[in-house]
Amino acid sequence: MTARLLDGKAAGARLRAALGARVAGLGFRPGLRVVRVGDDPASVVYVRSKDRAAKEAGFDSETILLPEDVPEDGLLEVVRRLNADPAVDGILVQLPLPKHIDPQRVLEAVDPAKDVDGFHPVNAGRLAAGLPGLVPCTPKGVMHLLAKAGVALSGARAVVLGRSAIVGRPMAALLLAADATVTMLHSRSRDIAEECRRAEVLVAAVGREAMVRGDWIAPGAVVVDVGINRRADGKLAGDVEFEAARERAGWITPVPGGVGPMTIACLLENTLEAALARRGATELQPNGGVAEEHATPEESYGHGPGLA
Ligand code: GUN
Repeated sequence: MTARLLDGKAAGARLRAALGARVAGLGFRPGLRVVRVGDDPASVVYVRSKDRAAKEAGFDSETILLPEDVPEDGLLEVVRRLNADPAVDGILVQLPLPKHIDPQRVLEAVDPAKDVDGFHPVNAGRLAAGLPGLVPCTPKGVMHLLAKAGVALSGARAVVLGRSAIVGRPMAALLLAADATVTMLHSRSRDIAEECRRAEVLVAAVGREAMVRGDWIAPGAVVVDVGINRRADGKLAGDVEFEAARERAGWITPVPGGVGPMTIACLLENTLEAALARRGATELQPNGGVAEEHATPEESYGHGPGLA
């Protein structure tokens, strides 16, 4: 069996076009501000892509560039100014930050209502509790991709490899909200290969090239590769041994062209959702609305005396 490709490039372009059409009908332009500190080469590329995509979809997008040696207080002051600016709906501080800056202090300074990364503890907590809020872009994009492929998550054995605050933890929360049976694997987990072999849906987010071997993939499994690793030859590679995994999986994301384009599209989606919610036009949804694309209503409410 050769897996079908989960084409994030095409799905991301469709989502961006749909968001652009909605923005065109709003009568105002949602405002996005991306803050980049220093010249980390990967960040330069990512931030440029975000700004270009936002402008193409009709958003009011600006990138704020600060020098590598900006003091932490200087960055916090910029964040506070953006919090107070009514024209700004979404704020994203690109990571990583220079070593002299505590990223957590900066992320916690962002107004949760403008936190389009979904990294503020208020939004992380709301996601963990199944409450409305802004949801991190990468796991949200993965959920969209799974929905587009028609992957049934209710009751499915889903394995998330990696427990980062940016991907692994929110990914597990969204899969759980879609009624999957979720296992999280991390650096202290035992029997990682065996656990992966049980996965019907496997999301790899560790940042280590080809860590997931082809023979860890169950026949027909859905494989989502969040890793973007720069190889010695300059090419990008994921966390999954792609060619071997492709021979066993039912669906698989390529790297590049899988999850990455969905992350950017979801940043725009979050910015639109924040803009509408801040104006009282629509409310934010639990789980960013994406888990509900999968779950049937009666399966979503397990508050009775049995298994919730
Ligand atoms: N650096 C790499 N990915 C991301 C992301 O999704 N958000 C931010 N703010 N920084 C990143």
